[in-house]
Amino acid sequence: MSEKKTYEGKFASIIGSEQAEPANIVIFGATGDLTKRKLLPALAHMHRWNLLGPHSRIIAAVRDKKWTKSKWVSYVHDQLLHYFPDAILNPRSWQRIAAKLELVTGDLTDPDMYKQLAATLREMDGKKNALFYLAIPPEWYECVAKNLKQAGLADESEGFRRIVVEKPFGMDLTSAQELNQTLQCYFNESQIYRIDHYLGKESVQNLMVFRFANSVLEPLWNRNYIDHVQISVSESLGIGYRAGYYETSGALKDMIQSHLLQVMALVAMEAPLSLGANDVRDEKLKVLRAVRRIDADKVDDIAVRAQYSEGKADGVDLPAYRDEEGVAFDSTTETFAAVKFYIDNWRWQDVPFLLRTGKALPERVSEICIRFKAPPQTLFDLNEGNVRNNELIFRLQPDEGMLLSMTAKQPGLSTDLRGVNLDANYGMVGSGMPDAYETLFHDVLLGEAGLFSRADEVEESWQIVAPIMTAWSKKEDISTYPAGSFDVPGMDDLMSDCEGGWRTLSTKERDV
Ligand code: BG6
Repeated sequence: MSEKKTYEGKFASIIGSEQAEPANIVIFGATGDLTKRKLLPALAHMHRWNLLGPHSRIIAAVRDKKWTKSKWVSYVHDQLLHYFPDAILNPRSWQRIAAKLELVTGDLTDPDMYKQLAATLREMDGKKNALFYLAIPPEWYECVAKNLKQAGLADESEGFRRIVVEKPFGMDLTSAQELNQTLQCYFNESQIYRIDHYLGKESVQNLMVFRFANSVLEPLWNRNYIDHVQISVSESLGIGYRAGYYETSGALKDMIQSHLLQVMALVAMEAPLSLGANDVRDEKLKVLRAVRRIDADKVDDIAVRAQYSEGKADGVDLPAYRDEEGVAFDSTTETFAAVKFYIDNWRWQDVPFLLRTGKALPERVSEICIRFKAPPQTLFDLNEGNVRNNELIFRLQPDEGMLLSMTAKQPGLSTDLRGVNLDANYGMVGSGMPDAYETLFHDVLLGEAGLFSRADEVEESWQIVAPIMTAWSKKEDISTYPAGSFDVPGMDDLMSDCEGGWRTLSTKERDV
């Protein structure tokens, strides 16, 4: 897709969006990877469509005291040139972005840096709204939150003050609880925005609309008609330069504890009382609380892990995980994880929810598959050809859309059956999709917290995966799968009580 097309597509979705109050957007970790790849393009795009509010500023908090404002401005220019060239193609547009950029320098532990920041905020006309984005390693969250508080920057008397924290939010239940308590010492829960960028994805938000703005599905959305649910996030890249983080994490903590459990909660939850943040979060929390607790001795029955060995994924040669830079030669960190959960409530009793994710898999494809039960009576031979149980697929990426697979008659004199798809591609219906970070920034600025995880949801999710973490930490070895394949030992065993096996994850050869 050309840049121009992307631009027009985004325009279509953003037109009519609400402009936020002017605010100081302070980025800690302004020279890091997340800022250049995601935050700056999202802010530049919001600026382009007047969503940031006049007089808003983007303030970098940089540790290196040698940085000057002009260096920050030319840094932003270079990053946008690479990641979002539309933003600077028009010199006037770039000048307006450049005019918003400010810089403060100093060590994160240095109170003077926060005084400097407070002085910079005071320069703003009118309300002194501020959003503090912590795009820094979690070990720094406490230090920054505490210093912000001590410099009076958590005080909302002159404007809103909101703090945004990135994942990982803790590395286990205890550390997540500690982090929640720490942040809540300095900011109120209503000021804390915990990012789970999956919740900002257009296709994930559409799940709620699809479920609760249509009545046709509700009678089917339960254990009477649904055989099982598969939620899959497959990535073709290896871990690249992220060994430092990934070695302490692995697929279970990195993806399942956060993104996939959140998506599962959205699939399984009851209709909320309203779209208010706490009503939605309350319903998601009920699902998480209803997840059947895993017996530590039976983890092998419901969870599978593996690590990639050398291979080729989506045309790219990859070394074995253990040979990646920064990875221990005997690492047992899993790069693939699949878990079968059950939700013990009236709607979902005994319906398996299978969550799987991994790196170095054949393609980058993420989707939710709701597989329905077979018809009660078999008039036709359903096993013939490529016919299978009905499936409702939500494609999360790369080609966002929905697909309902049905069975129809093959035209001709005999009663042969074939699969047909009712396929809706969001791109084709012309909606255009903002990036998840743009949606999330916009929501923080508007004070909408519905797409952010609440403290209790995060803690509940850690509690759910804790027995798996414990069991896996005791294992001395790990199975492997060749990079670029789904040949994960034991993966199929998880499907023993599910009809139809794992869905093929491919944009090239779609099932049915
Ligand atoms: C991040 C994980 O939260 O999500 C990464 O830390 C992962 O390991 C990424 O690659 C996937 O996000 P997306 O939006 O590319 O599916």
